[in-house]
Amino acid sequence: MNFSVTDNDFFKETSLLSKEEKKGTITHKSPSNIALIKYWGKHGVQLPNNPSLSFTLTNAFTETRLEFATKKEGESKSEISLEFWFENEKNGKFEQKIRKFLESLLPTQPFLGFVHLKIYSQNSFPHSAGIASSASSMAALALCLCDLEKNLLNTLQNEEEFYQKASYLARLGSGSAARSVYSNIPITTWGQTETIKNTSDLFASPYSLPIHAIFQNYQDTILIVSAEEKSVSSRAGHALMEDNPFAQTRYNLAHSNLKKLILALEKGDTETFIEVVENEAFVLHALMMCSSPPFILMETGTLTIIKKIQKYRQEKNIPICFTLDAGANVHVLYPKKFEKECLTFIENELKPFCFEGKYLIDQLPVISK
Ligand code: PMV
Repeated sequence: MNFSVTDNDFFKETSLLSKEEKKGTITHKSPSNIALIKYWGKHGVQLPNNPSLSFTLTNAFTETRLEFATKKEGESKSEISLEFWFENEKNGKFEQKIRKFLESLLPTQPFLGFVHLKIYSQNSFPHSAGIASSASSMAALALCLCDLEKNLLNTLQNEEEFYQKASYLARLGSGSAARSVYSNIPITTWGQTETIKNTSDLFASPYSLPIHAIFQNYQDTILIVSAEEKSVSSRAGHALMEDNPFAQTRYNLAHSNLKKLILALEKGDTETFIEVVENEAFVLHALMMCSSPPFILMETGTLTIIKKIQKYRQEKNIPICFTLDAGANVHVLYPKKFEKECLTFIENELKPFCFEGKYLIDQLPVISK
């Protein structure tokens, strides 16, 4: 893999574009991901201030279909031509967001101006579940754009190059989306770290270090505590890290937590895994609470659930733990072999604290041997 890759490697010349008229349909499906080592704080053009590591999910995904047709002579090639449908309906709000994203890519990916684009997108999870879909949706879109480039410019023939570029473009749309382009890879990292060879801030990579059998088909049940839109967006949250007095301490902690987690993943050490994963979730939300202005994304139910998980773990000696993303929902993580007991516990004791009793059972993709 080439790791002297720079932004320039992802810029595309339109002169490669053939004169031939082309049209076609491209589809891609991208999973959601849940970060164990959190990305919180960025600089430059969506570059992370620390490395992150995530579990790839299976059941929560976005499916995107892109229809394209090359523009005729006389039509403007310096503008984005786009129509956007979400869950079978035209969606002006999302169309505007995607248009802005594509316009931001136009100077470096000028081929995007040479085609009419129609994009149809849908999620596997209910819209009202309060699950962030930006990671899966931006990843699916980025994969479609890479296939479009491949088709129009005859580039990206090499699979590794293809996925690197897809992750690069996804990152520009939403940071955590960089980690969602690899559907069948259970663990992904994004951000330069000496601990893992060949990592980059520009794009995410499949995790290539050893993973103990206990982590290979880990379960993630997502408890929907709130389905409301977050009071503070991730974008605003990242920006508040700039003046957070604990910022540097946090970035250092992310590096040391990552080191610990890598060892735990290799050794099958669920105790250290739990310690690191819960610490990352608590630190993320503590950073929010000591930002200026401060904000809280957890709800009362979030805390009740966390306490119940910790108590259950202690009493039953089952390695169940939680993590949180930037919101009130709780991801409950446990090994496949404890699936039965954990699901009974969730159904009986945690469901009452979920919004309308909703939770979604998910898991890491199973690696085919
Ligand atoms: O990708 P963003 O900008 O929505 O930020 C994601 C932030 C967290 O979900 C809290 C952490 C992460 O690494 O996914």
